[in-house]
Amino acid sequence: MQELEGRTAVVTGAASGIGLELARRFGAAGMNVVLGDVERPALDSAESNLRDAGYEVIAEEIDVREIDDLRRLETAARERYGDVHVLCNNAGVGAGGPVADPDNLEAWRWTIDINLWGVIYGCKVFLPAMIEHGEPCHIVNTASMAGLGSAPMMGAYNISKYGVVALSETLTREMQMMQTAVGVSVLCPAFVATGIASSGRNMPADVAATLPERAVEATGLQSVMESLVANGIDPALVGEAVLDAILNDRFWILTHDESKPGVLARAEEIVNGINPALRNGFA
Ligand SMILES: NC(=O)c1ccc[n+]([C@@H]2O[C@H](COP(=O)([O-])OP(=O)(O)OC[C@H]3O[C@@H](n4cnc5c(N)ncnc54)[C@H](O)[C@@H]3O)[C@@H](O)[C@H]2O)c1
Repeated sequence: MQELEGRTAVVTGAASGIGLELARRFGAAGMNVVLGDVERPALDSAESNLRDAGYEVIAEEIDVREIDDLRRLETAARERYGDVHVLCNNAGVGAGGPVADPDNLEAWRWTIDINLWGVIYGCKVFLPAMIEHGEPCHIVNTASMAGLGSAPMMGAYNISKYGVVALSETLTREMQMMQTAVGVSVLCPAFVATGIASSGRNMPADVAATLPERAVEATGLQSVMESLVANGIDPALVGEAVLDAILNDRFWILTHDESKPGVLARAEEIVNGINPALRNGFA
């Protein structure tokens, strides 16, 4: 997709972190920007900041766990700006805890509902019209390096992100088969300095009530995550990489060179029948 100016981009999870940076990039490129997010105050402030910067923007409060909310987002985008050309299925949370803990089931469900079902719903709702209008367009699904390697204590997150990688690979092949003008990318960052380590701020009370504090705190995982995320790369670099992938039709967006050896090591383990062992990083 070469032309961005005057086209329309929809971003979920747009109120903070990577999503907000994507929205800012699209606005700066002269696109109409449609923000979707579950966190109302942050969404309002993102919308007014982008508008103050001179960008064309609207915002809808949505929960990506609800397909009707994504339908409402699509309708709002179409009614205001016409055809959609870029869709970033980006909303996500980091939660879950160990596989062996039987008490964190609802946190697992919440994580997979947002990170995987939210992306599935986005594709199902937006794709038909994007294929139909026939102009060059692009879908960017936010996965993670956790979609290419499985660190311990992150089971629900890993599962959701592997799912997003599989969905995206399937989709790009289907778009080629159908000879559509829809490009596809999958975004796989390692740590980025965003609000992801405080994802619990959006956890519904009924889900939080089922999650034993000990499940996360006892392992020290929360403080480790906070420090890794705080020392992550600037989300502006991720925004730059995504824009470049859209313009040059690149599928894989790996923002951290240092995480690539882990992908190769895992592939080696698979083809050589080597059992997964503990090591640093995602894989
Ligand atoms: N930050 C990292 O280190 C990192 C690394 C790899 C992948 N990612 C992925 O990047 C994406 C963006 O996360 P981020 O790091 O910018 O974190 P973030 O918390 O700053 O942003 C996530 C946004 O998603 C929104 N959101 C959460 N649940 C939602 C729901 N149910 N419906 C709609 N919106 C919802 C939040 O309100 C927030 O604005 C996520 O998919 C995350 O898994 C992040």
